[in-house]
Amino acid sequence: MFSRRLVFSKVGGGSNGARHFGGTVVGDGTVERDKKMKPRVVVTLPLPGAVLESLSASFDLQAWSKPESIPDAVLSEWAGEADAILCSLGTAITAELLASSPKLRVISSISVGVDHIDLAAADEVGLPVGHTPEVLVDSTADMAVALMLAVMRRIVEADRFVREGRWGTGWSTDFFLGSDLSRATVGIVGLGPIGRAVATRVQSFGAKVIGWNRSERNVPGVQQVDLDALFEEADVVSIHTAATADTRHLVSASRIDRMKQGAVLINTARGAIVDEVALVAALTAGRIRAGLDVYAREPLPHDHPLLRLDNVVLVPHLGSATVATREAMLERALINLTAGLRGDRLPWCANPGVYPDS
Ligand code: DGY
Repeated sequence: MFSRRLVFSKVGGGSNGARHFGGTVVGDGTVERDKKMKPRVVVTLPLPGAVLESLSASFDLQAWSKPESIPDAVLSEWAGEADAILCSLGTAITAELLASSPKLRVISSISVGVDHIDLAAADEVGLPVGHTPEVLVDSTADMAVALMLAVMRRIVEADRFVREGRWGTGWSTDFFLGSDLSRATVGIVGLGPIGRAVATRVQSFGAKVIGWNRSERNVPGVQQVDLDALFEEADVVSIHTAATADTRHLVSASRIDRMKQGAVLINTARGAIVDEVALVAALTAGRIRAGLDVYAREPLPHDHPLLRLDNVVLVPHLGSATVATREAMLERALINLTAGLRGDRLPWCANPGVYPDS
């Protein structure tokens, strides 16, 4: 239905951050809706112009086009009249917003994680929430392994060293020593699709894999262990569980304390799963190393203590950031959106309990 050849080009916008498709701009800058009413869709983040143009054939769009998150007041004003919201991680969909948006028929998020959406509140009003599972598994697993290698082989630190003109001596036996993934025991927290994809990858490097999952999961070559034991035994701990009330600070101060000297923590899941204060303390003490894609607060504040540490590699929530994966995520999100507005069941629904037959 939607072309996979979406062009990820910059999207321009009005000076107030808004682009409007499907209505008519009148003298005072406000927009009159078309006579033949199309469903009104609020888009909360910049999207490729071609996508917006194509959506505007069927929907009356109000689209936020600035790189910074849409302000709550703007979202609340736009959503008040909307039939659907197309959003992603940077937009908090709160119970209050849902309560003041009575016409909503679907929320479609361009993400697999839905911790930015109050699912309980959506359930309460029977509102289906779409998300994009499966298509980002490989990209996110690749990022986890990339971070492991970057931390273990000190790639970023070494790159900085060369660029700063500090490479003044010849080759020596103890120069920039790291550790081997092939010799490591990797502990995977959460044996869902991404955790399993990471297991397969690191097994192919020769690593031994142990894992923990809330429920029993039979994963070939992965020995399931108790969570505390995983933190004690692993040379690398990689987090692949969803962020829920139950998993908040699952990586607690006491579990971080259990990690071996020099062990590596990788987080490509969600910042809220890790006690970040305890993590910073362990990194500052030089006890462990880390590779992080996600943070308690995103964007990471410019004065965050993590920024001063050399034993952590930081990337800005890029787990799914490849052209092919983002196109696939967008495609699923648009299919969910359209299904919801037609009154059909969402193919990828994060709260299937809203459907009576589930
Ligand atoms: C998601 O979709 O939840 C990912 O975190 C995006 O990278």
